[in-house]
Amino acid sequence: MTPPPDAPVVSARAKPHPQDGAQAAQRDRADPCTLVIFGGLGDLSRRKLLPAIYQLMKEHLVDEQFAVLGVSRDEHQTDDTFRATMREALSKSDEVHGVDDELWDALCRRLFFCSADLTQSDDYANIGKRLEEIERVRAPEARNRLFYLAVPPSVFEPIVRNLSSSGLAPRSRKADERPWVRIVVEKPFGRDLESAMRLNNLLLGLFAEHQTYRIDHYLGKETVQNILVLRFANSIFEPLWNRHWVQHVQITASEEVGVEDRGKYYEEAGVVRDMFQNHLLQLLSLTAMEPPAQMTANAVRDEKVKVLKSIRWMTDETIPGNAVRAQYTAGTSGGKSVTGYRQEKDVASDSQVPTFAAVRLFIDNWRWNGVPFYLRSGKRLAKRTSEIAVQFSAPPHLMFGSTSENLRPNTLVMRVQPNEGVSLNFEVKVPGAAVALTSNIEIAPVDMDFDYAEAFGEISAPAYETLLLDVMIGEATLFTRSDEVEAAWKVIDPLIKYWESHPPKRMPTYAAGSWGPREADELIEEDGVEWREPT
Ligand code: BG6
Repeated sequence: MTPPPDAPVVSARAKPHPQDGAQAAQRDRADPCTLVIFGGLGDLSRRKLLPAIYQLMKEHLVDEQFAVLGVSRDEHQTDDTFRATMREALSKSDEVHGVDDELWDALCRRLFFCSADLTQSDDYANIGKRLEEIERVRAPEARNRLFYLAVPPSVFEPIVRNLSSSGLAPRSRKADERPWVRIVVEKPFGRDLESAMRLNNLLLGLFAEHQTYRIDHYLGKETVQNILVLRFANSIFEPLWNRHWVQHVQITASEEVGVEDRGKYYEEAGVVRDMFQNHLLQLLSLTAMEPPAQMTANAVRDEKVKVLKSIRWMTDETIPGNAVRAQYTAGTSGGKSVTGYRQEKDVASDSQVPTFAAVRLFIDNWRWNGVPFYLRSGKRLAKRTSEIAVQFSAPPHLMFGSTSENLRPNTLVMRVQPNEGVSLNFEVKVPGAAVALTSNIEIAPVDMDFDYAEAFGEISAPAYETLLLDVMIGEATLFTRSDEVEAAWKVIDPLIKYWESHPPKRMPTYAAGSWGPREADELIEEDGVEWREPT
């Protein structure tokens, strides 16, 4: 249900507190360290990590002696060619608006390259040598190392072993030990519960949990962090945030893009591994969790784990009635004709991998008993949007005659992206009707809307900037703990296993540029609910 296009908008203009600017400037500065990027020439490094580093430098948040060592198998690369590739990446990045020459010179001097086959233990001696050259200028206690695994998951295990056996990354006993060594592991963390547990065992056998940072970049988004602030820095929501007042919750993460050049990866992953196991379940846990006693990494993560553990298990009997999968076919996206999933590069012509899924989940605890959480995500949908919509119950008795039938239930929408913000809709009396308050008055929905950009200017920190800075500071709240990642797999594993062992007779489809398959609408229509069309 969407508001009529001409519905008036009541703007809740935020009045930034005088200290807001000061608080932004007070973001902690990173410890001196060398960021070693395994997969230094890869897509993630070029598209996300380098732009994030550039921005951090621009904001004076990295140390004077910060350096980056890119590692990749390519033997023909040198420091100079690596720098040239990174310069090009910065100019192409839409997260950097114009490269400042002086700043680039300062960054360029800190970029180094080392060629190594990361699955070969002998090659780690070269990495060690280059690290020592870079670290020479620093005091011994400032020779901190941050290893970033921006590589395919198939090589995580040998790399983790080699890092440890080469002595480049010793296990630390205490979180405040100096110099520190930290390891960032990109998603996907495993491809099912079993492999995630194996990877956790390996990591925690060789390193301490406080050295291990499992990334889910959604947690670095300002608006995702705002979920907790909205819920727990305001007192008006808490009394309503439960089964007595919430009718259902819808979580949508839709993308306009298709699989692009990631067909190979996507054929192995599919939408459930790619988006549900991590991003959507993170949004769900932040929305549903109890208030933590303190805002510390472990207190927040404890509460999120409790939510994940309370999600009702899906079984072979319940999955068919509560989950829908589908694949996109040819259609129109952004005004252009686009191909279907099975015609994409590196995708099998008879692929059974879903590019869309919609799932109804229940959280079996006191707060949420009986409240459906509808989750959906897909590629090549009508619009790129991520949002959480909390729909409140309808009034218990409606006395406004026929107009009552069209009343929209109050819905609080947290817009994660784009148009970051929060809105709440409610019904008002349309002024000017010639009658007094009788059963014939006209009623219309309006939105009370908070828009981040309008209130605070552009959202300045892209997710990777926040997350990289946090690792360099040693702040783990926005990273996934080992038990959390396993609890999320436990929720998702039965669905993946069921779908992989029960290929559909006919895979449901949706045209590129639409809002998904008919089956997804039917899934929630049986509860008398419709998917929101995000604004
Ligand atoms: C990644 C997925 O984790 O998230 C991609 O692997 C997806 O398939 C991306 O496109 C979406 O992230 P964002 O920040 O663009 O919403």
